[in-house]
Amino acid sequence: MGSVHALRAEGLSFSYPGLELFKGLDLELAAGEVRAVLGPSGSGKTTLVHLLAGILPIPEGRLWWGDMEVSRLGEEALARLRRERVGLVFQHHYLLDELDALENVLVPGMIAGRPDPERARALLARVGLGEHLQQRPDTLSGGERQRVAVARALYARPQVVLADEPTGALDRKNAGRVRDLLLELAQENGAAVLLATHDEALVRGWPAWWIEDGRLVGG
Ligand SMILES: Nc1ncnc2c1ncn2[C@@H]1O[C@H](COP(=O)(O)OP(=O)(O)OP(=O)(O)O)[C@@H](O)[C@H]1O
Ligand SMILES: [Mg+2]
Repeated sequence: MGSVHALRAEGLSFSYPGLELFKGLDLELAAGEVRAVLGPSGSGKTTLVHLLAGILPIPEGRLWWGDMEVSRLGEEALARLRRERVGLVFQHHYLLDELDALENVLVPGMIAGRPDPERARALLARVGLGEHLQQRPDTLSGGERQRVAVARALYARPQVVLADEPTGALDRKNAGRVRDLLLELAQENGAAVLLATHDEALVRGWPAWWIEDGRLVGG
């Protein structure tokens, strides 16, 4: 048997009406592997991350998280498996405004029926927000909000971490800090990390794929 990949896609095709974005795209990431997906605005980075997260239905092709093929799962099973295996950092952080920082990190645990406030506190301390647990997102700075989003994504110790422009709204120094925290926390769990960005400087030195002609090129 070959090694089991943390994330694998085979023959993914996807179009919006009148716009073909992916055509037979293949991708594999091993546990612990870290990669960037690069492409200019509009090239399909967010769409690809949402396909790989099972948020957008896959019309054609196959997708695996670890040993589980997820492209044929029903909505409920897919959502449960995503909570267990995938950590997502969205281009727009999508924190819940009515909840404070600690509660936002705890949301995945509450949905799963296993909230672990100690873990949430420890993660927020790791990202430098130990003194901000009770602040709501609208009272946090942009960089602080992104760090809460990183803590939330890593809360369940996912095997796959998908980050879509996780530092898009930040200055260079804070962007580097959030990137490093994401990597550090993900690698503690041996997660595979895919970070999509238009910003080559952010991922300098990383192995990278480019979105080109509906596929990923480079390596
Ligand atoms: N729901 C939708 N319906 C139709 N077209 C869409 C939809 N969502 C995105 N698109 C189009 O698909 C293309 C890819 O969008 P996507 O958001 O994936 O790009 P991106 O690489 O993430 O861009 P950015 O760097 O600006 O975030 C764009 O041309 C966009 O206008
Ligand atoms: Mg995008």
